[in-house]
Amino acid sequence: MSKPLLRALKGETLSTPPFWFMRQAGRYLPEYRKIRKQSKNFLDFCYTPDLAVEVTLQPLRRYGMDGAILFSDILVVPDALGQKVEFIEGRGPVLEALDGMESLSKLSRDGLHDHLAPVYETVRTLAREIPDTTTLIGFAGAPWTVAVYMVQGQGGTDCEKIKSWATNAPDEFERLIELLVDATADYLLEQVKNGAQVLQLFDSWAGLLEGDQFRRWIIEPNRAIVEKVRESAPDIPVIGFPRKVGDRYEEFVTETGVRGISLDSDVSVDWAAGTLQKKCTVQGNLDNQLLIEGGPALDEGVNKILTALSGGPFIFNLGHGILPQTPPGNVGRVADIIKAWGR
Ligand code: CP3
Repeated sequence: MSKPLLRALKGETLSTPPFWFMRQAGRYLPEYRKIRKQSKNFLDFCYTPDLAVEVTLQPLRRYGMDGAILFSDILVVPDALGQKVEFIEGRGPVLEALDGMESLSKLSRDGLHDHLAPVYETVRTLAREIPDTTTLIGFAGAPWTVAVYMVQGQGGTDCEKIKSWATNAPDEFERLIELLVDATADYLLEQVKNGAQVLQLFDSWAGLLEGDQFRRWIIEPNRAIVEKVRESAPDIPVIGFPRKVGDRYEEFVTETGVRGISLDSDVSVDWAAGTLQKKCTVQGNLDNQLLIEGGPALDEGVNKILTALSGGPFIFNLGHGILPQTPPGNVGRVADIIKAWGR
C-alpha cells in the first residue's frame, strides 16, 4: 500500500510520519481568499463542487500533505436536516436555534442525500484527482458538537441552553442525538461510497461535559457511529477528536473503538505516547498559536512532538484548525521539518 497516512492508521510506525493540518484549506491562503469571493454565501461555496475541489487541492500543491480533507463544513448536516443555517462574515455560523421537541420534530433526514449530493460529487472528483500517495479524508461533526450549534444557535457561548436541555429532559434531548447519530453515519458512509478513505469525527465541544453526561453524549454517540461505519465499511478507519477532554481521552479511545485519536494541544505528548499510542494511532498536536508565532519556538514545538510520538503509529497534525492570521511560510516550515525527519 502506497499511502503513508493509511499505513499509519493500520498501526505501522513510519520513519517519516505522514502529516496534514486541520483547516488546511482556508483564509490564511491568498489563493483561497481569492476564489472564496466567487460565492457570497459560504454554504453555496461548499455546495459548488468545482470550487470545493479546487480549495481542497490548494494546500496540497503548496505543501504536499499526505491527507486531503474534503472541503465542506460540519454544519451542512443541520442544513440538510432542514434547519436554517447561515454564515455571517466576521461572526461565524448562526442557526435558527432549536427550541425543544416542536422544532426538533420539523427536522427530517429524508432529503439528506439529495441535499448533500454536491458534497458527494466533490468527494468523487477528489478521489480521481489527488496524487496516488495522498489519502482522501471525509469528515463530519460528532453529534454533541453539532447539537451545540443547533441548540445554542451559534458556537462559543456558555452553552447553558443545551446543558439545561440535556440535564432536565435527557430522554427528549436523546431524540436529537439519535437523529444526528443516524444522519451522520449515513452521511459518512455515502462519503465512503464516493471515495473517502478515512473519516474524522470532530467533537470540538466535547470538553463541556463530564461524568455520566460525558459518557452519554460524547462516548456513546461516537461509539455508535464508529460501529455503524465498521458494519458497512470495515476497512475504513475513523479518527476521533474529542477536544479538550484531558485524561478522558483514554476512556474515549477504549470505549469508542476509533482507530486514530486526534489530540488537542493541551495533551502531554509523553503521556499520549505511554497510554493512547499503545491502543491506536495518535494524531496531533501542534499549538496553532505557535504556528502563527513561527521562529525558533515553532521549530522547537514541532521537534518535541516528533521526538515523543514518531516511535509509534503517528500522524502529524495541529491541536486545532489553522487560524486565518497564520503566515503561510510557517506552514511550509513545519512541512519541511516533518519531511526531513527520519531521512
Ligand atoms: O480544510 C479543512 O480542514 C476542511 C474544511 C473544514 C471547514 N470547517 C471549513 C471552514 C472543516 C473540517 C471544518 C470543521 C468545522 N466547522 C468544525 C470542527 C473543527 C473545529 O474547528 O473545531 C467546526 C466547529 C465548524 C463550524 C464553523 N465553520 C465555524 C465555527 C466557522 C467560523 C469560524 C471561521 O473561521 O470563520 C466555520 C466557517 C468555516 N468552515 C470556514 C472554513 C474554511 C471559514 C469561512 C469562510 O471562508 O468564510
